[in-house]
Amino acid sequence: MSTLAVYPGSFDPLTNGHVDIITRGARLFDRIVVAILVNAEKYPLFTMNERVDIAREVFRKHPNVEVDTFEGLLVDYMERRKAQVVVRGLRAISDFEFEFQMALMNRRLQPRIETVFMMPAEQYTYISSRLIKEVFKLGGRVHGLVPELVEQRLREKV
Ligand code: PNS
Repeated sequence: MSTLAVYPGSFDPLTNGHVDIITRGARLFDRIVVAILVNAEKYPLFTMNERVDIAREVFRKHPNVEVDTFEGLLVDYMERRKAQVVVRGLRAISDFEFEFQMALMNRRLQPRIETVFMMPAEQYTYISSRLIKEVFKLGGRVHGLVPELVEQRLREKV
């Protein structure tokens, strides 16, 4: 049986921490879907189409990485896709509480689904999309923390 994993998130924008987790997931599972949540934030910096384009371009050469969007409950999307595993990145203890709640709620909603936590490479453990946006908007350097394409798109936006 082949294993389909889903890596859900807002990805506004995709960071090198996300890229690291997706790359690890693609080595571990037969196929991994980067599932971008529609309407996660009221005022996202990147539109849904922009986020999809960026992730598709970054993983263009990875045949077992797919980029998709979803609305509503993650477990319903997983059911539709017949996916078995939710992948989430854990950067620090501070992530743990919310991730633990989500994993157990998802298990209650759909016991068949397993959540697998993966740790990014240590140089990415402090990166978040929120901090990237803030630092970039205020003129700080984000080089090396996001894919080159994201840096380029950020420059076009701000
Ligand atoms: O990038 P994020 O904001 O950390 O991702 C959070 C996400 C998208 C994984 C989470 O908000 C989610 O799964 N939303 C879909 C709605 C849902 O299923 N909510 C119940 C989760 S227990």
